[in-house]
Amino acid sequence: MHGKTVLITGATSGIGAVAAESLARDGARIVLVARDRERCERTLERLRGAGPRVQHRALVADLSSMSEVRRVADEVLASEPKLDVLVNNAGALFGRRIETNEGLEKTFALNHLAVFALTLRLLDRVRASGPARIIVTASAAHRVASLDFDDLQSARLYRERKLGQLLRYGGPAFHVYARSKLCNILFTRALARRLAGAGVTANCLHPGFVATRFADEAGGAIGPLTRIAKLFAIPVGEGAQGLEYLAASPAVENLTGRYFAGTVERSPSAAARDDATAERLWEASEALLRSLGWPERFGS
Ligand SMILES: NC(=O)c1ccc[n+]([C@@H]2O[C@H](COP(=O)([O-])OP(=O)(O)OC[C@H]3O[C@@H](n4cnc5c(N)ncnc54)[C@H](OP(=O)(O)O)[C@@H]3O)[C@@H](O)[C@H]2O)c1
Repeated sequence: MHGKTVLITGATSGIGAVAAESLARDGARIVLVARDRERCERTLERLRGAGPRVQHRALVADLSSMSEVRRVADEVLASEPKLDVLVNNAGALFGRRIETNEGLEKTFALNHLAVFALTLRLLDRVRASGPARIIVTASAAHRVASLDFDDLQSARLYRERKLGQLLRYGGPAFHVYARSKLCNILFTRALARRLAGAGVTANCLHPGFVATRFADEAGGAIGPLTRIAKLFAIPVGEGAQGLEYLAASPAVENLTGRYFAGTVERSPSAAARDDATAERLWEASEALLRSLGWPERFGS
């Protein structure tokens, strides 16, 4: 990874932190985008220890805010001439419906729309850096989800709280999370189609059920329940292997539009392979960003 710049979100914790350190050890220069300045500093210290010969860098942004995504992407465009790998890894599960000050349901905003917005804003730079790679951390949770385009912000889903949903998903919070991870796979596939022949691959992965800080702050019953379940989860080092593999391995340099479980390619659910839904999601995501004042062409 010598000479490569890796921009990664969600590198202040969990699988992103371990993968970033490992890539730094292999010679990559890491640019992390994260929401907490102190956690950024601690991460940078570890990165300097792992890969001392290059200038790692941190940019601060709360990725659940699309105006923050745009600001930080523009900071990157103004200062980073080359982006060899873009890793969209930040994500969370929230125990209740939270609406951002932009009127978006927070899981959808952070886990999907931020990934869509950041990637498209940086896409020309990634394309110009080819051969390049784009990676999205999805989840096997997508397998229980389908999208409802009349309720992308999940207002109705939370309002109605059906018994079937409780039995199938354990409640609306996990259902909403699973939908956001389905969006990750649909987006990756639609992106890969657009990037065919451009020297940029786009792949996504389920890292495994990993003992990270994931859902610790979810609130409600989900936080404590996940903490107990995580007693049976795989260690963080193992969970980070898929990210490291997709970012660095020559074995996947020509693969695109694929879904992996760790380092093994898998077929995602039928809903995740539905190209018409992927295109509809792309259009709906563009429309949402435009309604928030994003320009007609996101990359400019
Ligand atoms: N753990 C699992 O079993 C599992 C399974 C499948 C998929 N995943 C996915 O794996 C990815 C990484 O999660 P993890 O397991 O490593 O959990 P984690 O330890 O909680 O890490 C999540 C990362 O996302 C960052 N983040 C959260 N909200 C953010 C925001 N508003 N703006 C910017 N950054 C934000 C966190 O920053 P802070 O350090 O500031 O909190 C942290 O760096 C997520 O996309 C998750 O959905 C995890």
